[in-house]
Amino acid sequence: MKRKILLHPDPRLKKVSAPVPDLSDDLRALADDMLETMYDAPGVGLAAPQVGILQRLVVMDCVKGENEAPRPLIMFNPEIVSSSDETNVYEEGCLSLPEQFADVTRPAEVEVRWIDREGKAQQEVFTGLWATCAQHEIDHLEGKLFIDYLKPLKRQMITRKMVKMKRELART
Ligand code: NI
Repeated sequence: MKRKILLHPDPRLKKVSAPVPDLSDDLRALADDMLETMYDAPGVGLAAPQVGILQRLVVMDCVKGENEAPRPLIMFNPEIVSSSDETNVYEEGCLSLPEQFADVTRPAEVEVRWIDREGKAQQEVFTGLWATCAQHEIDHLEGKLFIDYLKPLKRQMITRKMVKMKRELART
């Protein structure tokens, strides 16, 4: 089932999410819904607070090529274990800020630990778009958006555009 994606500005996007205590069928269903919602958008990552659930869960799939097999990842309680000194700049976007993009500098490589859909502990080093996406999604669990890395003026400009967009959407 597709879920509704919250749009910035929304107080729920600024909250710190709670750790997932134990996996349940409800949580697994939520994760599956989030993947469906993400692919449909389309996007490469989605965090639970973006669908209004303040729990530490993110999904992502940064496979780009049409001929490549999809790699849907479900991460409960994801944590960055280590990050590289080397950085990377990507033009980021976010499903909660449609049509808004900006360059963000982040560590180029991160090692992430999480609990998978089966409840098993996983750990992996991510690079490239996967590394950026993992950091962007985990930021959501801290109530942080990619625009928080921008200069205040640029951030305010984007927020103003979003307020306008939400007002227009509410009218239609
Ligand atoms: Ni996002």
